[in-house]
Amino acid sequence: MTLNNESVNSPVGIFDSGLGGLTVVKAVRERMPKEDVIYYGDTAHVPYGSKSQETILSFTQDAVDFFLSHDVKCIVIACNTATALALPEIKATSPVPVLGVIDAGARAAISASKNYKIGVIGTQATIASEAYTKTLRKLNPACAIYAHPCPLFVPLVEEGWLDRPATKMVIEEYLKPLKMAQIDTLILGCTHYPLLAGSISEFLGPDVKLVDSASSCAEELEGILREKGLLRSEGTGSETFFVTDGAAKFAETGSRFLGRSLQAIKFTPSK
Ligand code: DGL
Repeated sequence: MTLNNESVNSPVGIFDSGLGGLTVVKAVRERMPKEDVIYYGDTAHVPYGSKSQETILSFTQDAVDFFLSHDVKCIVIACNTATALALPEIKATSPVPVLGVIDAGARAAISASKNYKIGVIGTQATIASEAYTKTLRKLNPACAIYAHPCPLFVPLVEEGWLDRPATKMVIEEYLKPLKMAQIDTLILGCTHYPLLAGSISEFLGPDVKLVDSASSCAEELEGILREKGLLRSEGTGSETFFVTDGAAKFAETGSRFLGRSLQAIKFTPSK
């Protein structure tokens, strides 16, 4: 695809393994209401967090192919796991700009932290990849990083168990070591975790800043579009959601992530 002036009116593609990336859709729509957004949620294959790099890369490539067939001008990988495991390979071959959520989250954490003791939580695959740790170290080699996988958080959020006693017990179990390490900043390195922010803050206390990459990622997207002359200056903007399975469940649970009801959900079969 050649980028030209007509591409300004092309949509932005936002990808997630399921519905968690709707937090990024929300941030992008708030920041750039004139842009058209196409969302691709790979609900047939979620969760990615427990899968191998080979599988995650292949699913992510399918999403990119889908977006390119819809003539997007830019792709946002809103899924932390897909960003951690597939972004470099996807970037190397995509004809349109691709950005992930890890750089944005790491930069936001470095600017939020005062003592440079930074916690990172995410899926098993994200934490095992050390993608956040490496990015944070590049930004500030002196920071101390405490990374911990929290695999039970995704099902709890999908169940809507945001502040149940069971959820609070799981939060305590996972985050106790980070609290003891006296982190002052915690990266919520998974699309689902911002929904647990209230309960996580309650456990860690008000002095620990929680960083989620959705708003930093939207800011970075705006910068890329502006720099490339691809930012829309007029229009009302639209959103279309494609899922690879379970459109009805996506609509129901997705409204929790988006903070409003979802229109225009379409089914697209996975490869
Ligand atoms: N979207 C994933 C992430 O941000 C969480 C859900 C999954 O495991 O696929 O890491």
